[in-house]
Amino acid sequence: MTELNAADMTTCKHWRVETDQDNLATLWFDAAGTATNTLSAEAIAELDRILNALRAKPPRALIIRSAKASGFIAGADVEEFTRIETAGDVLAIVRRGWDVFNKLEALPFPTLALIDGFCMGGGLELALACRYRVAIDQPGTRFALPEVMLGILPAWGGVRRLPRVVGPSVALDLLMTGRSIDARRARRIGLVDQAVPRRIQENTVRMIALEALPPRKAPFPQSLLNLPLLRPLVASMARKKLGAKAKREHYPAPYAILDLWEKYDGDPLSPPSGHPASVIALAAGETAKNLIRIFFLQERLKSLGKESGFKANRVHVIGAGVMGGDIAAWCAMHGLTVTLQDQSAERLVPAMKRAAELFKRRLRDQPRIRDATDRLIPDVGGDGARRADVIIEAIFENIEAKRELFARLEALAKPDAILASNTSSLKLADISANFAQPSRLVGIHFFNPVPQMQLVEVVSGSRTDAQIAKHAAAFVRQIDKLPLHVKDAPGFLVNRVLGPYLNQALRLVDEGAAPETLDAAVLAFGMPMGPLELADAVGLDICMAVGAELAGEHTAPPRKLAELVKAGHLGKKTGRGFYVWQNGRALKGQAAAVPGLTEKLLAPYLREARAAVDEGIVADADLADAGLIFGTGFAPFRGGPLHYLRTTEATAAAPAEPIARLLTRY
Ligand code: NAI
Repeated sequence: MTELNAADMTTCKHWRVETDQDNLATLWFDAAGTATNTLSAEAIAELDRILNALRAKPPRALIIRSAKASGFIAGADVEEFTRIETAGDVLAIVRRGWDVFNKLEALPFPTLALIDGFCMGGGLELALACRYRVAIDQPGTRFALPEVMLGILPAWGGVRRLPRVVGPSVALDLLMTGRSIDARRARRIGLVDQAVPRRIQENTVRMIALEALPPRKAPFPQSLLNLPLLRPLVASMARKKLGAKAKREHYPAPYAILDLWEKYDGDPLSPPSGHPASVIALAAGETAKNLIRIFFLQERLKSLGKESGFKANRVHVIGAGVMGGDIAAWCAMHGLTVTLQDQSAERLVPAMKRAAELFKRRLRDQPRIRDATDRLIPDVGGDGARRADVIIEAIFENIEAKRELFARLEALAKPDAILASNTSSLKLADISANFAQPSRLVGIHFFNPVPQMQLVEVVSGSRTDAQIAKHAAAFVRQIDKLPLHVKDAPGFLVNRVLGPYLNQALRLVDEGAAPETLDAAVLAFGMPMGPLELADAVGLDICMAVGAELAGEHTAPPRKLAELVKAGHLGKKTGRGFYVWQNGRALKGQAAAVPGLTEKLLAPYLREARAAVDEGIVADADLADAGLIFGTGFAPFRGGPLHYLRTTEATAAAPAEPIARLLTRY
């Protein structure tokens, strides 16, 4: 290999070109000063110069690949979005990628992207501008255009090229949801030409690049749907489907993507600036700002797992019920060896069955399913506790039972093992009262259902060692959840806020409000689910227990709730609660619109969120916002409850503003 010595290339900080004896050029992307490749303004400007040089002295073919230890390209540099001030700044960002990727597509020789690991956003748009794409078939290889999740759209050619390559049906789904797919699915839908094991990558890439067959296009009949004549039909069907999930005023980006594809063939520079498909309109809107804010909040939660180098190999979970069973399965799915203990072998059976379903659903691939199954070991005798790096207790919510269990565990466990409880309501200091070393106990509080809920509260009791809480957060990251440090106070953060919010809704039912009307009032605000449907989904028995815990035993529970629990109607799991449930869905009647109801329902939520910050349950308001978005689904496009309070209070005339007024009243 020789370095191509064009003057322009020798000054590149982020890219390196090598050419072999067959004049096959490889362009290595190695973004300077970071472990992850992102397409900064500087990196794109360098790529532009390199493409000019290659066009002037063409190789036989060009292969673009990452020089990083992991991943192809994570996307654009989102940090740069936060510095946008004017419409001109937006256009500059759009134009730089749009123009350079068009230049890449127009090169007169074959181009190929070799993708090993994540290939996201601008990274996928770069790959789509190449004539061919080869993916390495490994679990970390993922493709997505997640711009929609930031409230913006793929403006570097993704909206034009993806439908051409895979057809509009699949493309619009990927564009409008932002979801990711693995290498095999990418191969099946035709996004990549080949998905191969790493050992044959060099040969495959060489063969495809040198053979230079015509580039891949969407097969018939999908290619037909790309015709301008049929686009309005496809777009209107997609718009209808979208309307059932997200309102345009809350989430304008997926609608803008549809408009841009239908009317402008994905060219982001075509719509006039006032048009709803305009990137300028999107970038200027509150939704994009708030969703970008959430992106950084999520990064901050992730960084909490980096404050310790702790890494677990073995986990022991005690209690194979609703929570423990799923926690164990989740850990096994993430590569840990897990022993799962309960009082008898029979009690382990449902958990093992659920684990098998989870592995099948999430891993798909037979060898990976088999490996995860092998890692999950039933352990009635509890022998795994001796060798575990993390021990998670998830038995009945009973202080005596937990104390007795931990007395044995503390003596058995390795001296540096994390001892954790999943308790929702007991004080850690009470559980560890008889410990030889009470500083060892930490709370690792998962939410139900474990596979769906991203947040995990890491609870520090009055005696918990700060370093152990950091190890626990690192463990939470290791299993791909988002850790949040919270203080040991009733309900921690999430249940403290959810409890009074649900209670308010339950009391309003007692006053005669229809569940449908109450749920519709918060759906209109942008919550993903109404409080009554949520109560049914969590289980009315659990709601009643948590309510009693937070409100104190002397407060009578909401009347209708108590009646339903007494009659055995516990919600979704029994097929009846506030709603009748069929095939996993609540059957709902007509909702009425009641002015002021949304504010009334949300007031306790917002009040508790603010109080939790004031009382130091979480370190600051941003972390509370992050916890409540990822732990309760608080309307993401509003940027979090504390952020919402700040912005509404700042923009409205304070005394007349409904939320501010309600906060003082409730
Ligand atoms: P569950 O009742 O479904 O399961 C408890 C399991 O622990 C049962 O299988 C039982 O046989 C087993 N068990 C009891 N004592 C044992 C012992 N000494 N040794 C071994 N196994 C024992 O309970 P669930 O709902 O899973 O709750 C467990 C813990 O998780 C509780 O502390 C609860 O507060 C907490 N939690 C529950 C949530 C939920 O939504 N259910 C959410 C978050 C936390």
